[in-house]
Amino acid sequence: MRPVICAGNWKMHKTGREAVAFVDAFLPLASALPGRVEIVLCPPFTALAAIRAKLDGSRVRLGAQDVHWEESGAFTGAISAPMLREYGVHYVIIGHSERREYFGDTDLTVRLKTAAALAGGLTPIVAVGETIALRDAGKTLSHVTLQTRAALEGLSQADVARVVLAYEPIWAIGTGRSCDPSEANAVMAEMRACVPGLRDVPILYGGSVKPENIAAYTTQPEIDGGLVGGASLDPSSFAALCEKAS
Ligand code: PGA
Repeated sequence: MRPVICAGNWKMHKTGREAVAFVDAFLPLASALPGRVEIVLCPPFTALAAIRAKLDGSRVRLGAQDVHWEESGAFTGAISAPMLREYGVHYVIIGHSERREYFGDTDLTVRLKTAAALAGGLTPIVAVGETIALRDAGKTLSHVTLQTRAALEGLSQADVARVVLAYEPIWAIGTGRSCDPSEANAVMAEMRACVPGLRDVPILYGGSVKPENIAAYTTQPEIDGGLVGGASLDPSSFAALCEKAS
């Protein structure tokens, strides 16, 4: 059985001090949640150190929002998988649409980053999704399966089995306009079928997920949790969301 995963993507929000305040409020709420849900917090790099010690021994796993594909080298501003591991990071989001749009991430760099994360002992959360223009042109399935295949190209079956995928329609991110759950489910069924070995890989939905709508997603057969932006910034909202997801 696939796990239920709720991953909070804080994007460029919260200083170390603000992250600590979140965790202090969130951990008591999280410890009361059903054990079935895997909870992940993905703060900015600068807050990893501040909350790592607090999360040690708790049920909450640490994630990052990006990783470079090399272990080290002349890549100003970049952070590698071994550096993230040193901070107790378990998960890393790769290929988020904001990285693709504003930071030049491509299908190629997403593939390199995914392989580097796996080689470095991290679980990649590989994000794919279509723009509104592609959706209106009827190209959602072809685009999303292309991105999925590109990200996983060249991986061994053992590595494919260690990946988490996220389907995030770009038009639903931060807009309050969430995707119909049955449509998201249908897209994920295609994603699961487009690369061998994805049957047991968790696929998360992302895009305006809230405590009020998460259950409509996680009750769909292909949807194994949420990649959550705005609603993960407040401890009680994110705890409520994790509870409803399970
Ligand atoms: P949102 O963001 O929940 O604020 O729509 C989701 C994401 O970008 O991962």
